[in-house]
Amino acid sequence: MLAILPGIFPSPADLRIGEVETPQPGPQEVLIRVAATAANRADTLQRQGKYPPPPGASAVMGLEAAGVVAAVGELCRKHKVGDRVCALLPGGGYAQYVAIHEDIALPVPGSLSLEEAAAIPEVFLTAWQALVWLGKVQQKEKVLIHAGASGVGTAAIQLALQLGAQPYVTASPGKHALCLSLGALKAFDYKDPQLSETLAREMGGADLILDFIGGPNASTNLRLLNTDGRMVLLALMGGGKWPEADLTEVLRKRLHLMGSTLRSRDVDYKIRLSQEFAAFAWPLFVSGQLRPVIDSVLDWSEAGEAHRRMEANENAGKLILRVQAG
Ligand SMILES: NC(=O)c1ccc[n+]([C@@H]2O[C@H](COP(=O)([O-])OP(=O)(O)OC[C@H]3O[C@@H](n4cnc5c(N)ncnc54)[C@H](OP(=O)(O)O)[C@@H]3O)[C@@H](O)[C@H]2O)c1
Repeated sequence: MLAILPGIFPSPADLRIGEVETPQPGPQEVLIRVAATAANRADTLQRQGKYPPPPGASAVMGLEAAGVVAAVGELCRKHKVGDRVCALLPGGGYAQYVAIHEDIALPVPGSLSLEEAAAIPEVFLTAWQALVWLGKVQQKEKVLIHAGASGVGTAAIQLALQLGAQPYVTASPGKHALCLSLGALKAFDYKDPQLSETLAREMGGADLILDFIGGPNASTNLRLLNTDGRMVLLALMGGGKWPEADLTEVLRKRLHLMGSTLRSRDVDYKIRLSQEFAAFAWPLFVSGQLRPVIDSVLDWSEAGEAHRRMEANENAGKLILRVQAG
């Protein structure tokens, strides 16, 4: 089959399509003929040699895919050849075929296109895990979502709203309109030198914060969190170091600070997450109350351009790659 060839390529322009071995589905796996996949930051880091795939995962990039079931393992009961599915992957999505456990593969909701379905798994499952499983969000709680126009951010805004919480975001000003259109109550420019004071004044406090930035946000987050507040750290786009560390607020306000990476979770965890999320969200995708947020759709021969755009922070929502039929 064809795939975007794995390897370490500091420049995104060096990504190439070539031949790799077609995966064989295990007894409880489905083989998906991939129609669309999506770029993720983890892919750009993997391409640069900074984020090796977890043990057992394909060396091919790609953390999600949507397509049609091409073959099923002998123990599969959920899907049959020809079904339209989308799935979270530990890797291997930038390819014409990928194999995944049948319980992680989810039927495409309603009449969504395969390109739209490919925009769901990684960011919505990450957001669900952060809001519900880790953040334990409650109705009417105030949730601050940093990088609100990111793929995960746009999913988190919508889910927070559907869960009855009140989402607020930080993002660059050009992306505020998108965040507000998805239901964010207010959007803040994270480059505001008075951000901490602005957030305190406009929000009062936050019960839950989803942070993708790390060190530069740490003091602001701890100051803003309410008593018994939670922070879920999902990435370190601004860096991991926090020179002015002061843990007083953590103790005084009984804060819960958590970190998580979805890719490293085991298959059972991903099955439970995928199934629980789909039970909640699929009817909402069908009714249009949730929607995949797509920045643009590119042919997979332009994967390098998708990586370049992502690394330059040019996207708002998902960068989808249309995969040539195998
Ligand atoms: N831990 C997990 O399980 C998990 C799962 C999925 C994704 N992630 C991580 O979550 C992050 C978001 O992923 P994504 O795919 O949603 O990203 P994305 O769509 O590429 O969006 C990222 C956005 O973050 C903003 N940003 C970048 N650097 C920033 C900085 N230093 N300070 C403030 N804002 C910054 C940029 O928007 P502006 O124009 O607003 O600056 C950028 O467009 C990535 O780092 C990804 O690796 C983690």
